Amino acid sequence: MAATSIRPPGPETPDWLQKLQYAFQFTRYLDRVGAYGDVVRAPLIGNNPNTFLVGSPAGIKQLLSGDGGRIGSPPNSHLRPIVGDTSLFVLEGERHRRERRLLMPSFHSERIKDYGHIIRDLTLCALADRKFGIPFPIREVMQNISLDVILKVVFGVVGGNRFDLLKSYILRLAETMRSPLFAACLFFPILQKPYGTWAYFKSLQQKIDELLYAQIRDRRQVKADAAPGTDILSLLIAARDENGDAMTDGELRDELMTLLLAGNETTANTAAWAMYGIYSNPEVHKRLRAELLELGETPDPAVIAQLPYLNAVCNESLRLYPVAVLTTPRMVKAPVVIQDYAFEPGAILYGSIYLTHRRPDLYPDPLAFKPERFLERSYTPFEFLPFGGGERRCIGEALALFELKLIVAGLVVNSALQLADQRPEIPRRSGVIVTPGRGVPMVLQHD
Ligand code: HEM
Repeated sequence: MAATSIRPPGPETPDWLQKLQYAFQFTRYLDRVGAYGDVVRAPLIGNNPNTFLVGSPAGIKQLLSGDGGRIGSPPNSHLRPIVGDTSLFVLEGERHRRERRLLMPSFHSERIKDYGHIIRDLTLCALADRKFGIPFPIREVMQNISLDVILKVVFGVVGGNRFDLLKSYILRLAETMRSPLFAACLFFPILQKPYGTWAYFKSLQQKIDELLYAQIRDRRQVKADAAPGTDILSLLIAARDENGDAMTDGELRDELMTLLLAGNETTANTAAWAMYGIYSNPEVHKRLRAELLELGETPDPAVIAQLPYLNAVCNESLRLYPVAVLTTPRMVKAPVVIQDYAFEPGAILYGSIYLTHRRPDLYPDPLAFKPERFLERSYTPFEFLPFGGGERRCIGEALALFELKLIVAGLVVNSALQLADQRPEIPRRSGVIVTPGRGVPMVLQHD
């Protein structure tokens, strides 16, 4: 069909109201705009009136592949105050590609296997402080495990004073960053003043930086006189680009902050949603537990990660409850046509992970939690895309999936957990992440 210049449909409500609706009732808003079609105008973030969502596999494929250079992936510049000038998030073009080439080998699935015992041990003691019969939000447990994994596996901080200090500062930083005031400061730099929320954020950041630079120094030292460590920081220190150049201390610091920001809350909330999906569907729990028990007493983490039903359960959870509802933004660089709509340079396009994952033509009965669908057919990377795709595809996917599987398996097999009540979880936005609104209250039973 010939391309038209008609603008994609979308709600007629004023843009400012749509932004508010997305901010406060984002699932209802996305469901509403999704009903207008596969490509819709949705001015939900930022001030560009030409902002669109793409929610069909064909459109997503074109978007994420860059369509022969006509669509680019602009930097996420508003994150610069948190992650620095040399973070993967804020780089673009060749510098972004160079940085990805340096980082990606450390996150390869074969390498990640080495961290199985750390994740398994953290999961085994995750409920040690919880009392039988007293409800607690499982999200808190997941946040604790996920942060410990980042500190140990990514930063290589194994314990001691530095571990405790970093953890307490990062928890305070995360709390600060969740506040609406902080989000306002991030999007309106004029509010970044040397007092109040922003000043508190900067003081925490300075303390964290001091500890990170000390860790980088120590890791470089180890590398000089002994075998390099196996943590991701040590691998990044050893990495070289095509010219044989290594990353500087500043680049390493920026990437450690990037990995923390990108990998911590995403993994924790995905794990909390998975527990909700499993424990609110007794048949799923029964079948999963049976599959896990067949492996015997202390199975190899790498073997656990290969289990087909566990894999299907994790995928179904990522489908129905994607913690990132949109990809990062893409920008039109040269005129392009997507599904009969013509876009001019400057237009902002988001891949809608949420809408694609709820398409009844791909996922019949889309609101039901049915892991079996991932056993019955396979999905293309443009039909199932919890980690985005293309040149900004998540680099932590293998680590996140491995972690998710080991945590879920460890808790389902070793703990007599159940949901504390039958009230449904309502998705809530926390920054750019979607969390279960009540944190999934669970309770430990005597076996
Ligand atoms: C279940 C957990 C996770 C989910 C659902 C998730 C999802 C995503 C998504 C949707 C994107 C944007 C992709 C795009 O725009 O095409 C992204 C980017 C990214 N993720 Fe993840 N992520 C998770 C865990 C992690 C972990 C554990 C790490 C590292 C420790 C990580 C590191 C990154 C980085 C560095 C980027 C930016 C890539 C770039 O701009 O080039 N993520 N992630």
